[in-house]
Amino acid sequence: MDQGENKLDVDMSHLEISETEVAVEDEAQNTATLRRSGRRKSATEEPPEKKRVLQKPKKLSTNKEHKQIVNYYLDRKIKRTSSCLETIFEMPKGDTYMTMPLKLTYTKTGHPSDVLRIEEYPMPQPEASEVLVEMLAAAVNPVDINIIQGKYPIQFPGIGFEGVGRVSKVGPSVTKFRIGEHVVPTTYAGTWRTHLVLDEANLISLPKEIGVAEAATFFVNPITMYRMLKDYAPLEPGDTVIQNGANSSCGLIAIQLCKAWGLNTVNVVRDRPDVGQLKEYLIRSGATYVFTDKEIAGTDVFKSGKLPKPKLGLNCIGGESANSILRHIDHGGVLVTYGGMSLEPIRVSTSTLVFKTVRLDGFNLFKWFSESGDEDEKARMFGELIDLMVKGAVRAPPHVLVDFNRFSEAVEMTLTKNGMVGKKYILDLRAVTSKM
Ligand SMILES: NC(=O)c1ccc[n+]([C@@H]2O[C@H](COP(=O)([O-])OP(=O)(O)OC[C@H]3O[C@@H](n4cnc5c(N)ncnc54)[C@H](OP(=O)(O)O)[C@@H]3O)[C@@H](O)[C@H]2O)c1
Repeated sequence: MDQGENKLDVDMSHLEISETEVAVEDEAQNTATLRRSGRRKSATEEPPEKKRVLQKPKKLSTNKEHKQIVNYYLDRKIKRTSSCLETIFEMPKGDTYMTMPLKLTYTKTGHPSDVLRIEEYPMPQPEASEVLVEMLAAAVNPVDINIIQGKYPIQFPGIGFEGVGRVSKVGPSVTKFRIGEHVVPTTYAGTWRTHLVLDEANLISLPKEIGVAEAATFFVNPITMYRMLKDYAPLEPGDTVIQNGANSSCGLIAIQLCKAWGLNTVNVVRDRPDVGQLKEYLIRSGATYVFTDKEIAGTDVFKSGKLPKPKLGLNCIGGESANSILRHIDHGGVLVTYGGMSLEPIRVSTSTLVFKTVRLDGFNLFKWFSESGDEDEKARMFGELIDLMVKGAVRAPPHVLVDFNRFSEAVEMTLTKNGMVGKKYILDLRAVTSKM
């Protein structure tokens, strides 16, 4: 039995955390002295140093929750628990507060900055094969925004599709993970929070050479692009893939995966004043050709035989942009739609379907994960992506790490209707969790 379990077995029902005074740990004795309205637990113990308390702890509903929180602080020998609140709520430094894990949450769908708020919750404890993960960073993806807006067909408990964390405690029957390892959830986990508990079957370990930004964006986009490149057309080295939204995080992953696998990419981006720089950047990232949405119609790269016609098209924009790539797909090829950033429907000509027999298909990561039971294939895919990232062949998209308390900026920038943001926003939780 580990120390944490021992502590959970201690009967603390006589200890009440008052709403006006909080636990202050006597670190020298490695024990916590809990005080209630000046009444000490034991007459023989030295009274702990009196700390000014500005933040009342939330009233907790069960004694078990009290125990969990007290044990969390005992485990970490935390004397002062104020720093994370200083960071999150910009409280004055030097005061002592009782702190709990924090999460972003919403009670009704709507405009994300209006409905999201930071909330405390009881420290979850891992049981049996569960792992307690202290989050380091969590990506803000368009899908998260759509979920908060109520525009996604499914609602989940918690918000945040992906992120990276550090194992901070394991249940007694956990075999795969050790404390301190970096892990990524492989299921919807609600990652916009400081701590979460998941079964070990729903986590994979990432080597620490993979940077926090790559790790925080490891799950959603790389796996989506990997599956679409593997599952829809029989691609051989030298074949061509055409895509729109090529400067998106997804598009950049596709460019890098294709480069690593010897596939050509023809990439379409929206025109903009600095499009030359963007084209150069994509070429440096591994793109074979980059065209604006205006240029792609007149390209001769296929007619001239410079590249074989694409067997696969990847569409995350919809509307006319989808048509501009659909037009170039070879007979018997396929256009896979995985997003609709323009919010415009796709219109397909009859001849595309009847004479060219081009197929239209769609991909959804959540569906793939819940329906694909092939665990060997999942392990092989994770292994290959991790290798490519460690080698530097697949890198994080341009990104900004923003502190957890600046979540509004991250969601507003991901939400913008006009696009042209050019960066993935990632919530940085390290400033909070490192001080808890
Ligand atoms: N189906 C799935 O399982 C799955 C998985 C992952 C991602 N996705 C989807 O894939 C898409 C891209 O995700 P991401 O994380 O890569 O996003 P991202 O990095 O934020 O990139 C957004 C892309 O959309 C373009 N864009 C934004 N607003 C636009 C508009 N109004 N009209 C035309 N283009 C616009 C941007 O181009 P500009 O720079 O020109 O604005 C950029 O290329 C999203 O729709 C996302 O939901 C789906």
